[in-house]
Amino acid sequence: MQKPDELARSVYRVSAKIGSKDLFEGIWPIPQGVMLNAYVLKGEKKNVLIDLVKDWDGACDAIEGQMRQLGLRVSDIDVLVINHMEPDHTGSLASLVAKNPNVEIYATDKSVPLLKAFYGVTTNIHPVKDGETLDIGGRTLQFFVTPNVHWPETMMTYDIEDQILFSCDAFGAYGRYDHCFHDELDREELALLSTETERYYANIVAAFSPFVTRAIKKLSDAKVGLRMVAPSHGVVWRKDPLEVVDWYARLAGYATGPREKEITLVWSSMYGNTECMVETIRKAVSDAGVILHEIRIPQTHVSYVLEKAWRSSGVIFGMPTYSYKMFPPMYDVMDEMERSRFTGRKTMRFGSFGWSGGAQKQFDEFIDTMKFEHEGNVEFQGHPTEEDKKKAYDMAFKLAMEIKNG
Ligand code: FEO
Repeated sequence: MQKPDELARSVYRVSAKIGSKDLFEGIWPIPQGVMLNAYVLKGEKKNVLIDLVKDWDGACDAIEGQMRQLGLRVSDIDVLVINHMEPDHTGSLASLVAKNPNVEIYATDKSVPLLKAFYGVTTNIHPVKDGETLDIGGRTLQFFVTPNVHWPETMMTYDIEDQILFSCDAFGAYGRYDHCFHDELDREELALLSTETERYYANIVAAFSPFVTRAIKKLSDAKVGLRMVAPSHGVVWRKDPLEVVDWYARLAGYATGPREKEITLVWSSMYGNTECMVETIRKAVSDAGVILHEIRIPQTHVSYVLEKAWRSSGVIFGMPTYSYKMFPPMYDVMDEMERSRFTGRKTMRFGSFGWSGGAQKQFDEFIDTMKFEHEGNVEFQGHPTEEDKKKAYDMAFKLAMEIKNG
């Protein structure tokens, strides 16, 4: 049976390792799973539970089992803090309230209508003000309203005595980990955390990057000392908690730049004609000495495209025309990029058409909306000629050199 993890005296993580192959948020693949973390604080006056889980792969039983190991039943919780209303952190709320109707719920005022709409909960709700504190006996919690990380009602909770920040989605990651603390992870788990933090950020948080920057500034302005950062996905940062804060600041900064001097090549092909150009692009970027992330769709999920493209200064698209428009899986990629507020990358496009073009027009509309810097396009009927390949090589090489020297 999974055990609770002690963060400090009377402060514990109770967590569930989700190994399900279900999609996260119904969209994103999580082949390495995800953690759902909640936190228990046993104050001298009040027992507090920070965030919940949803009924997913045994998560509710896991959390209640760990609470029992701490000598607590659901009915022993005096205060439930809800940092964020998304159901991965509130799914078990109705069940908790049914077992413990007197529990006091602390959440932002924007959570109040959501508590009613999602769970029919309308009583014992304490809407917190930004910076408000709660004395639980020998320990004081402070609430920082941090909207849009990652819904409008979100906040973070800070344990003043032990300087632990319970940040919910912020500073989180995909992935299941056998250890609670970042400084306990082995090399394999660190590698997983590295990619799964960036993919999580690009999938879930990227669109809200200005708010991430604002939230980090708010904590900094408030001179919040950090001994630990304890998110509701991923691991607890103990040895150097600022490492994850700085990491998130960098990821948020990719929204406006600067970005990494890297290029993501995302391409698709129906009959191999567009594919013929891929080697040319690969060689041009390699000759320029720039790192290339290459992803073929729909063979690879858009989740992974977003991860690599978010950090990249350049995104090159290869796609054919299909029914007078862009190849449909590539439309999905660009639509997701637009939703995630991608902007300002250097770009070019190559691709084949049969009897009629059309993809380029739709592509141009996307890159205008996203304000990408368009190096040009190489579109060809059927199979690319040597002249087409030379044009594509020169364009990709120029794009890569601009990134390298930028
Ligand atoms: Fe982990 Fe926005 O929920």
